[in-house]
Amino acid sequence: MSTLEAGKGTTPEGADNEEQAARYVRDMFARVAPRYDLLNHVLSLQIDKYWRATTVKRVAAVLANPNALVMDLACGTGDLTWALGKNAKARVLGSDFCHPMLTAARGKHAHGLFEADALQLPIAAQCVDLITCAFGFRNFANYRRGMTEFLRVLKPGGQVAILEFSTPPNAAFRAAYDFYSTRVLPKIGAALSGVPDAYTYLPESVKKFPAAPELASEFLAAGFQRVEYEYLTFGIAALHIARKPAGHCAR
Ligand SMILES: C[S@@+](CC[C@H](N)C(=O)[O-])C[C@H]1O[C@@H](n2cnc3c(N)ncnc32)[C@H](O)[C@@H]1O
Repeated sequence: MSTLEAGKGTTPEGADNEEQAARYVRDMFARVAPRYDLLNHVLSLQIDKYWRATTVKRVAAVLANPNALVMDLACGTGDLTWALGKNAKARVLGSDFCHPMLTAARGKHAHGLFEADALQLPIAAQCVDLITCAFGFRNFANYRRGMTEFLRVLKPGGQVAILEFSTPPNAAFRAAYDFYSTRVLPKIGAALSGVPDAYTYLPESVKKFPAAPELASEFLAAGFQRVEYEYLTFGIAALHIARKPAGHCAR
């Protein structure tokens, strides 16, 4: 396993390699799972619902296609999976590598959920029309491997939509948000979840994650094309949409 390097994959404190980083992430979400939804909505002042709704809107054309297959990766407790599937004609599946998060999701969805590592999907090549991933990608142990796996399972011309925390481009807003995320959020998160490290990991992992223009460049470098991104709520989050080239053959 390669040595961890910030910007190449998540680098939780104490993890020396990708395997340890993935284990840290899975264990942390397992501990947070029972209170994850509550914390999400409280800490984001419910804005997370608007971010997911925006994501659904941007991929509406694929969702309207009855022949399309949509995979919501790192689906956690399934809020985006549910929002994608609500009025979709496409088939929508959700997967995550953390069992307790999926158990919470199962309370909301009877079907279409399975346990899998997004870096090693148990899915044949070239069968997915759309991959979505909300607040999961940043936690991958290796971002490039994630992108390569997306390219493998997507059909030529297929899309990926990544909703993730980002770095607000405005310096004044960034400073205010920084204060909230490093001083206020960890205290509320620890009090409500009883898992203090999860809510120090959150702002730390966001700080180490590539800013939106860099992430877009990384998608291009990995082999995607027509990469676009939009900032949401002054850049607290960003939505990247990238396409697999129509002529791309992945094995
Ligand atoms: C912050 S939660 C996001 C959950 C959900 N997508 C949402 O919008 O609320 C991050 C999720 O990513 C999952 N995750 C992180 N790395 C993963 C990987 N390599 N494979 C599958 N799931 C992963 C975690 O288990 C966790 O459920």
